[in-house]
Amino acid sequence: KSAANGSGNPRDFIAKMKDGKKRIVIFYGSQTGTAEEYAIRLAKEAKQKFGLSSLVCDPEEYDFENLDQLPEDCAAIFVMATYGEGEPTDNATSMVLKYVVFGLGNKTYEHYNVIGRRVDAALSKMGATRIGERGEGDDDKSMEEDYLEWKDGLWDAFSAAMGVEEGQGGDSADFVVSELDSHPPEKVYLGEYSARALTKTKARELFEARADRNCVHIEFNTEGSGITYQHGDHLGVWPINPDLEVERLLCTLGLHDKQNTVIGIESLDPALAKVPFPVPTTYATVLRHYIDINAVAGRQILGSLAKFAPTPEAEAYLRDLNQNKDKYHAVVAEGCLKLGEVLQLAAGNDIKAAPSPESVTPWKIPFDIIVSAIPRLQPRYYSISSSPKLHPGSIHATVVVLKHENKPSEIVTKKWVHGLGSNFLLNLKHAANNEPTPITSTDDGEKVSIPAYLIEGPRGAYKEGSAYKAPIHVRRSTFRLPTNPKSPVIMIGPGTGVAPFRGFIQERVALARRAIEKNGPDALNDWGRISLFYGCRRSDEDFLYKDEWDSYSQELKGKFVLHTAFSREKYKPDGSKIYVQDLIWEDREHIAQAILEGKGYVYICGEAKNMSKQVEEVLAKILGEAKGGSAEVEGAAELKLLKERSRLMLDVWS
Ligand code: 2AM
Repeated sequence: KSAANGSGNPRDFIAKMKDGKKRIVIFYGSQTGTAEEYAIRLAKEAKQKFGLSSLVCDPEEYDFENLDQLPEDCAAIFVMATYGEGEPTDNATSMVLKYVVFGLGNKTYEHYNVIGRRVDAALSKMGATRIGERGEGDDDKSMEEDYLEWKDGLWDAFSAAMGVEEGQGGDSADFVVSELDSHPPEKVYLGEYSARALTKTKARELFEARADRNCVHIEFNTEGSGITYQHGDHLGVWPINPDLEVERLLCTLGLHDKQNTVIGIESLDPALAKVPFPVPTTYATVLRHYIDINAVAGRQILGSLAKFAPTPEAEAYLRDLNQNKDKYHAVVAEGCLKLGEVLQLAAGNDIKAAPSPESVTPWKIPFDIIVSAIPRLQPRYYSISSSPKLHPGSIHATVVVLKHENKPSEIVTKKWVHGLGSNFLLNLKHAANNEPTPITSTDDGEKVSIPAYLIEGPRGAYKEGSAYKAPIHVRRSTFRLPTNPKSPVIMIGPGTGVAPFRGFIQERVALARRAIEKNGPDALNDWGRISLFYGCRRSDEDFLYKDEWDSYSQELKGKFVLHTAFSREKYKPDGSKIYVQDLIWEDREHIAQAILEGKGYVYICGEAKNMSKQVEEVLAKILGEAKGGSAEVEGAAELKLLKERSRLMLDVWS
C-alpha cells in the first residue's frame, strides 16, 4: 500500500489530490455523459463559492483501496447514474470519509437510482459520514430541477461540514480563448474527431408511403476501420448541430463575421476541465461540432449569462427566468427554447425570423464562458439492427426521425422540435442518395422543413470523393441470444423496437446456414422456435423490413414465426386497438410452455413507459395462471427469477 501512495502511481487519486492541493474528489459513473457533466459543474461551483479545487475522476482510471485514507479536511462526491435494469454504468463496475452523493436515474425503470443508493449504503457501512441529503434526479421528468434543488441545500451542509465559508472563491473561467493571427490552415481542426472512426454510409427510407414520418435504414461500412460488433450492441453516432442553430448563436454572440477566425483554447486547470475538443479550431466549428447548443437551455446557465446582456431589460428577463422556476418552465422548458432563442427573446428579437447580424442583437459573452457552460455534444445511441455474421463489415441502424410540437405557451405558440441525431442521419441519407432535403407535410397539412446540417462542409467534412461518412463507435451490450439454438426465444419489439431483433434473426440465419451445410437439411429439426411480436400502424405504411421476414422464415425452416399487430388497420370488436400484448395473450399457451418447460428466453425492446410495462404485465398474467396462481404473486416471482437469470432482458427507452 505504501508503494501505491507514491505520487508516481497514476491510479492513486489521493496522491494526485495532494499534488494539486485539492480538497474535493468527485467520482462519476456515467453512460451518456450526464453524470460527468454534473460532476464538472459541482467542481466549478465549489471553486466559485469556496475557492476549493476538485479532482474530477472517472472511477475506471483510479484505484479505491485508499479511499479510507482521504484526509479529514477533504470530501468525496459521488455522482452515480443508474441506467436500464439497474446495472452499474460501464465505467463504474469496479466501484464499490466525508462524502456527498447525487444519483441519476429514471422512474420509468424498475431499479430507480439503485446505484446512487448502493454507493451511499456501502460508504455509510464503512463508517463514512454523508454530508447533507442524498440527491436523486429523475431523467423521466426533472433531472435538472432535481439537481438544482439538491445542490442548493448541499452547499450549506458542505460549508458546515468542511468548515469553509462562501465567498472565498470567485467567478473564474476554466479556459482562456485566444484568437490566433497566423496559423497553418492544415493544422486547424474543422470538425475532425481524432478517436472516432468515420465510416461510409448507405441509406434508404423505410416509411415510403408517408410524407410526414421518416424512418431511416442506414448502413455503415466498417471495413478497414477496426470497428467490430455483436448482434444486440448499440451504435453511437456523433451528430453535429443544425445550420440554423449555429447561425443563431454566431449572431447572438456577435461572432458572425469572425466565425472562421482561428482560436486556441487552453485550460486553466487541466485536472478539472480538459479542453473538451481538439484545438486550434474556429468559433463556428466549436458551435457546430463540439458543444450542445441544440438542447433546451438550462435554468442555471441563463443566470450566469445575465450580466452580459446588451440592455438592462434583457438582463432582468434572464434573471427572472433563472430565479422564477414556474416562468422558466412555462417559457423555456415547455416552449423547448434553445440558448440562442432565449437570448434573442430576452433582447426582444423575433425568434422565428432567419437570424442575421442585422436582425439579431449581439451579447458580449466571452467565448470561454460559452465553452465552460455549455456541455459537450454527446453521441446518440441506437440499437444495431444487423448481425455481423450475415453482414461482416457493415453495421445497420433503424432510426425513426424524431419531430414533435412544443407545448404552446404565451410566448411560443407553436414550434416544431426536431431530434438532433435522427435528423442528422436523415440529412446524411439525403446527401448519400443525392436527394434534395425535402419539406414534409404533417397530418394537418402544414409544411415543416427538416433542419439542414452542413454535411459537405470545410475540407469535405462528411464527404470523401463520392462517399458520405459519419463518425460512429460501438457500445457493447448484454442483449444477446442464448448460445444454444435449441432454446426457444420470444422477442417483443413494436415500432423501431424491432431493430435488435432483425439482428437476432440474422444471427440465427447465419448459424442455420452453417448447420445445414454441415449436417444437411434436417439440422434445424431440434432447434427452438424463435417468435417475434411486432406492431406498427398499418401493413402498407410503417411495416419495417416487410419484405425480409418471409425469407428469414424459409431459411430457418419455419422455426421463425412472426406475429403482427397493425394498430390502425384491424380493431377489436369493441373498436379498441390491437397491440403486441394482445397477440402475446392469444399465444399464451405456447408462451408459457416455451418459458416454463422449454427454458426459453424473452426479450423486450422499445418504448419503456407504456409498451414494455404492459407487456410485462401480460407475461406475469400468463406465467401466474400457468403456475395455478396469480399475476401479482406467482407471475411476478417468475418474472423476477427470469430477470435474475438473464432469461428476460430489456432494451427499452423513454
Ligand atoms: P398506435 O400508434 O396506433 O397507438 C409502433 O409505434 C406501434 O406500437 C404502433 O402500432 C403503436 O400504435 C403501438 N403502440 C402504441 N402504444 C402501445 C402500447 N402501450 N403497447 C403496445 N403497442 C403500442
